[in-house]
Amino acid sequence: MKILVTGGAGFIGSNLVDRLVRDQYGHVSVFDDFSRGRLENLSQTGKAIRIVYGNILDFERLRAEMVGTEVVFHFAALSNVLDCVNNPAAAIRTNVEGTRQVLEAARQTGVRRVVLASSREVYGEAANLPVLESSPLNPKNIYGASKVAAEKVCAEYAACGLELTILRLSNVYGTRDRGRVIPLFIERALRAEPITIYGKNKLLDLVWIENLLDVLTRAVQLPCPTRPMNIGCGKGTRLVELAARVCALTDQTSSIHIAEEREPEVEHFVAEVTAARRHFSLHCPDDPLEYLPYVVEDFRTRM
Ligand SMILES: NC(=O)c1ccc[n+]([C@@H]2O[C@H](COP(=O)([O-])OP(=O)(O)OC[C@H]3O[C@@H](n4cnc5c(N)ncnc54)[C@H](O)[C@@H]3O)[C@@H](O)[C@H]2O)c1
Repeated sequence: MKILVTGGAGFIGSNLVDRLVRDQYGHVSVFDDFSRGRLENLSQTGKAIRIVYGNILDFERLRAEMVGTEVVFHFAALSNVLDCVNNPAAAIRTNVEGTRQVLEAARQTGVRRVVLASSREVYGEAANLPVLESSPLNPKNIYGASKVAAEKVCAEYAACGLELTILRLSNVYGTRDRGRVIPLFIERALRAEPITIYGKNKLLDLVWIENLLDVLTRAVQLPCPTRPMNIGCGKGTRLVELAARVCALTDQTSSIHIAEEREPEVEHFVAEVTAARRHFSLHCPDDPLEYLPYVVEDFRTRM
């Protein structure tokens, strides 16, 4: 089987590539413009995979690379909320038009299935927790809006017969992530620098990368869910608790500063994950931060 991973040099994509190669899913290609992805993320699998430096907005290139592909994981995106807020045109171009081009190339080349990484940001600030998949889509920022639009484009292509699995990911954590809350906290703590928390009550649903990878690999064969599905841990973690755990694991006593919440960011989110537990056998550990020591250790060895 040939599998193509857009955004495959990024955090989630490169971890998925490792898993697909390790478990011998077939021939794996990465399609990435390396705007945020890194070649070193693919160093474990380098020779076993095909690496294409390409932009998903370059339709002919994308289409040519998709010939003979059975499954596409579509992860290429402007993936950071604040980057999208600072450059809304780029967010719409990459996340919406880019997704349309991926789907059109998939349709034209006879790809069987596309798996889209959507986001919990589609819900915005939900009225009730945990957030059900049937909750209103009310994004708080342009990143969430771009994911809502990408989902709508998917619905159009699903109606044309393309198999589509849409996963609304909570905050994923693991090695190779950078510029997001957990790597930032760890970097600050390891340097014994102060940690700033934006919003004293901020609550996140943190999902361990390996638990997500189990779902993604099952998504190659299992029937596509009929509607988008939440992927999270189903439990909330307060940022203050996260910061305290990071400090304890790094043996540092970094001071923790509470700052005003940042307007485009969602304050409270916990996913309802019953559907994913049933369909994908999603594993939800009692402690969402069970694997935090592993990530801290990885940072420690590289800093
Ligand atoms: N990490 C999370 O917690 C999280 C949560 C919800 C949803 N998601 C979604 O999952 C997907 C993967 O996220 P990630 O954390 O691995 O992000 P990431 O930024 O690490 O990876 C995205 C990759 O896409 C590439 N890319 C960006 N624009 C491109 C373009 N025009 N053409 C080709 N490649 C391009 C980047 O170089 C990067 O390698 C994204 O769609 C993101 O929106 C991630």
